[in-house]
Amino acid sequence: MLYKATLVTVTLSLLVVASPVEHGPGVKIALGERSTFSRADDTFDHEKAILDNIKTQIKYQRNLRNLLANTGSLPEGWEIKDFLTIPPSSEKRAVGTEALADYRDVEWMGPITIGTPNQLFSIDFDTGSSDLWVPSSSCTSSTCVNKKKYDASKSSTSSQKNGTFTIGYGDNSTVSGPIYTDTVTVAGLTATDQYFSPVTTLSSSFASDPIDGILGLAYPSLSHFRGQTPFFNTLISQKKVTAGEFGFTLGSVGSVLYLGGTDTSKYTGSIEYHGVNTSTGFWQASGAKCAVGSTTTSSGFNTIIDSGTTLMYAPPNAVSAFYAAIPGSHLYDSERGYYSYPCNSPPDVGFNWGGKTWNITHANFNHGQTASGSGQCIGALVVASKNLGLGNNTWLLGDSFMKNIYTTFSFDKNSVGFATLKV
Ligand SMILES: *[C@@H]1O[C@H](CO)[C@@H](O)[C@H](O)[C@H]1NC(C)=O
Ligand SMILES: *[C@@H]1O[C@H](CO)[C@@H](O)[C@H](O)[C@H]1NC(C)=O
Ligand SMILES: *[C@@H]1O[C@H](CO)[C@@H](O)[C@H](O)[C@H]1NC(C)=O
Ligand SMILES: *[C@@H]1O[C@H](CO)[C@@H](O)[C@H](O)[C@H]1NC(C)=O
Ligand SMILES: *[C@@H]1O[C@H](CO)[C@@H](O)[C@H](O)[C@H]1NC(C)=O
Repeated sequence: MLYKATLVTVTLSLLVVASPVEHGPGVKIALGERSTFSRADDTFDHEKAILDNIKTQIKYQRNLRNLLANTGSLPEGWEIKDFLTIPPSSEKRAVGTEALADYRDVEWMGPITIGTPNQLFSIDFDTGSSDLWVPSSSCTSSTCVNKKKYDASKSSTSSQKNGTFTIGYGDNSTVSGPIYTDTVTVAGLTATDQYFSPVTTLSSSFASDPIDGILGLAYPSLSHFRGQTPFFNTLISQKKVTAGEFGFTLGSVGSVLYLGGTDTSKYTGSIEYHGVNTSTGFWQASGAKCAVGSTTTSSGFNTIIDSGTTLMYAPPNAVSAFYAAIPGSHLYDSERGYYSYPCNSPPDVGFNWGGKTWNITHANFNHGQTASGSGQCIGALVVASKNLGLGNNTWLLGDSFMKNIYTTFSFDKNSVGFATLKV
């Protein structure tokens, strides 16, 4: 399969620039902030990062299983793992050991309501998956204690469907539950008969999380609910939004999700759009280049833009080439592929897809000192575990990337777009 080559062609032909004025009005959802891995004392929380790494692996393996079930094939080099090896000790230590107040930020969460009358939830809006789930009133385990729970019996618009929703493999520490449809509203935009799962089993990895559930914003081909549309696609098909586009502004103040167009109050200049290959199901742009200062460390790779992932993950060779361009950098955790660099000489990191170079600020690259006073800081680019199953030419760009720019996701154009944040 000429995956790489064809993707590059598509990207070049779809590189278009749009004027900010041509988009219709949408709605804004104020978001709380995503945690970083820096504690209040500026040190790196290794256990918390490992837990997030594991959650990312589980999420991508679930996505790949759904993609295969929905489309019958996977992109070249991508693979489903029979079993993820999850070290139980790491997970145990990572859960609930720190009060949230010890961190600067909480999640990029915003409110949604489900049912009639409304039941309110705090949701993580995730461009790296496509399903909606919230805890169910039937979840009685300790992991659900501090969560808001959906009670189908109290909603006049709820309807149970056949089948079971599940995330996780090989063990029973999964997220799973029945499948329902109900009315779902975000910032006044209402999707009726929306498929979702009120989960009755909630993995301990979500217990200490401030969110109740997740709302996926990627393509329908990643959805567990085969043949059904994810929330935003339901809004499009039910004609509740004027434009099939949404955008994120993620920052330390005023994080916003904009649904139904582009938020012209949040960016300046034009948006640089790049076509995505919709057959992967992800918001995946190809033909990317990464540079440290004036040194290009990798080029011609695919990038998945994922608001539900904190860091940036790349194949092992790409990560070692990257840190080789940063004097004084060291491998910090050889098992997980975290690197440190000298805090007082941070790298100038930029990504380029054939247009402008989109830079990562020093603050967004830094995830905390290895130890108080060590002078070495953990970098936001980490080795992608083989367990992700994304092969050796696909990078995940999470919040460490998205915080630097206005990022927009267009189903109308089948493109992701980048623009300069208004300061
Ligand atoms: C998109 O990706 C699929 C899966 O890797 C590949 O088979 C196909 O050729 C790609 N399509 C284009 C237009 O690049
Ligand atoms: C990347 O994976 C392909 C198979 O998917 C393999 O042929 C190639 O040698 C790999 N490249 C590297 C650098 O590991
Ligand atoms: C759901 O299951 C019931 C009972 O097994 C069956 O009669 C019905 O056709 C199924 N509905 C769908 C949509 O599969
Ligand atoms: C998971 O639970 C099911 C049903 O409770 C049980 O049959 C199965 O053996 C369990 N699997 C593991 C790995 O514990
Ligand atoms: C990124 O940094 C380079 C080098 O400082 C600069 O030339 C470029 O304009 C920056 N990109 C953006 C989008 O601001």
